[in-house]
Amino acid sequence: MGCFSLRPLLLLAFFLPLLLLVECRVRHYKFNVVRRNYTRLCHSKPIVTVNGLFPGPILYAREDDNVLVKVTNHVNYNVTIHWHGVRQLRTGWSDGPAYITQCPIRPGQSYTYNFTVTGQRGTLFWHAHILWLRVTLHGAIVILPKLGVPYPFPKPHDEVVVLLGEWWNSDVEAVINEALASGRAPNVSDAHTINGYPGPMPGCPSKGEFKLEVDPGKTYLLRIINAALNEELFFGVSQHNLTVVEVDAAYVKPFSTNTIVISPGQTTNVLLHTNQGGGGRFMVAASTFLDTMIVAVDNATATGVVHYKGTTDSVATTFQVSLPSRNSTNEANKFIESLHSLNSKEYPAAVPQRIDHSLLFTVGLGIQPCPTCMNGSRAAASINNISFVLPTTALLQAHYFNVSGVFTDDFPAKPPVAFNYTGTPPTNIVAANGTRLYRLPFNSTVELVLQDTSFIAPESHPVHLHGFNFFAVGHGIGNFDPKNDPKKYNLVDAVERNTIGVPSGGWTAIRFRADNPGVWFMHCHLEVHTTWGLKMAFIVDDGKGPNQSLLPPPSDLPTC
Ligand code: C2O
Repeated sequence: MGCFSLRPLLLLAFFLPLLLLVECRVRHYKFNVVRRNYTRLCHSKPIVTVNGLFPGPILYAREDDNVLVKVTNHVNYNVTIHWHGVRQLRTGWSDGPAYITQCPIRPGQSYTYNFTVTGQRGTLFWHAHILWLRVTLHGAIVILPKLGVPYPFPKPHDEVVVLLGEWWNSDVEAVINEALASGRAPNVSDAHTINGYPGPMPGCPSKGEFKLEVDPGKTYLLRIINAALNEELFFGVSQHNLTVVEVDAAYVKPFSTNTIVISPGQTTNVLLHTNQGGGGRFMVAASTFLDTMIVAVDNATATGVVHYKGTTDSVATTFQVSLPSRNSTNEANKFIESLHSLNSKEYPAAVPQRIDHSLLFTVGLGIQPCPTCMNGSRAAASINNISFVLPTTALLQAHYFNVSGVFTDDFPAKPPVAFNYTGTPPTNIVAANGTRLYRLPFNSTVELVLQDTSFIAPESHPVHLHGFNFFAVGHGIGNFDPKNDPKKYNLVDAVERNTIGVPSGGWTAIRFRADNPGVWFMHCHLEVHTTWGLKMAFIVDDGKGPNQSLLPPPSDLPTC
């Protein structure tokens, strides 16, 4: 894909000067999906991993690199891997969501994901995109800037991945299957984790915790990822401010904060200045942010430590961190409103100014009848009152090969009935099922207002769009007002991301350009809501230009 493999060249010192000229290269990875026993919370169980690692291996690439990952499935589940936030320009076949862009890799089978990283640099992550396997099947993606291109902030002394996740003592697939059979909400996790470790917990003094050894007087780049299934998180380091420099692999105007808010699917790069002259051990912590009432939550705080070299390894951390309380909407908003695109000459924010498709999507919970369930009904979730049903063949194949009967392209641009979305819910909150997509011409511009509903309970929904970055131009509490709210939009330096929190009982407006042909999933990144149907997909048609069409499928693409 316009890249040369450097491997043969490396053998020839003669060609060494060429290395400086070649800007991109091919990177090969092998991901073997295998079960391994892991012990956390004094509880041992087999988990599904890549190469036996939890969290999984870090995938390194440089902007413009061609990345090839051969995934081989050695477990008894179907598997797919998604490269969350990688735009996959024209390579939708490598995006990964099961039954959206590909059929699953069956036990014993392999598939090679093949994509080029274009116009992105920073932190993203990869994760399984089928069932609830991503609970342990995930790892960081680190995209370095092109050779010779510096960061737009002072070069850090060192860089560390800080991956936040969840640990469940029980088998997660059993948890969700039971929930689906009963119609009720699934159990919550038993602990949060930092790079796989919860830290000391009641009843289980730690057998290991996240520990970052630092030199005093330096700057460290923390690449923070929320890979949890169902929980938005606060994160902080005691006695240290964090300077936010990038989110979702897009640079932001640096700002200082003591707490970050990070939703499942989001990534945040921060600079940590080790400016505590006296040294010491400082607590690192991650705890849940959830500002709705009736939803069960994992209240365990994951902890780790920033350890200044030369400090004695005493049992307890000298400096404890205090994070905002679980329902601290104010703290969360303060953070979210501080985010702005860097919007410099090198990294301009291309916020679409003129809009071709103006969409209003309600997102929320609901119920559906279920004769076999405990109360005769089951929890559901929907967008514009459609609870999305995955097909049994992949949508991208159906689109590319013109297979009829798999989906329709009549997803409604507006809610089927207008009502007071955030007021007292209407009596009928039964969602319809459907596999309906919204069609966009190549290069059209889209404004999408995501409006939370108060069905069951208002709740924050971190919505993730595949295939694109978007600009978050506005947000508010209550119902979106199409007359007055757009006047307050930020169309200059709105933050650019791939996952955005729709506030509890509020709305978020995003804009993007449909410049990537293919079928692109959009869903709530709380796994339980995805399972319940809070998902849909866009079809973006091919353009007429030479580089504006979806590439043909690879020969090893799995079949259903
Ligand atoms: Cu990170 Cu469709 O997901």
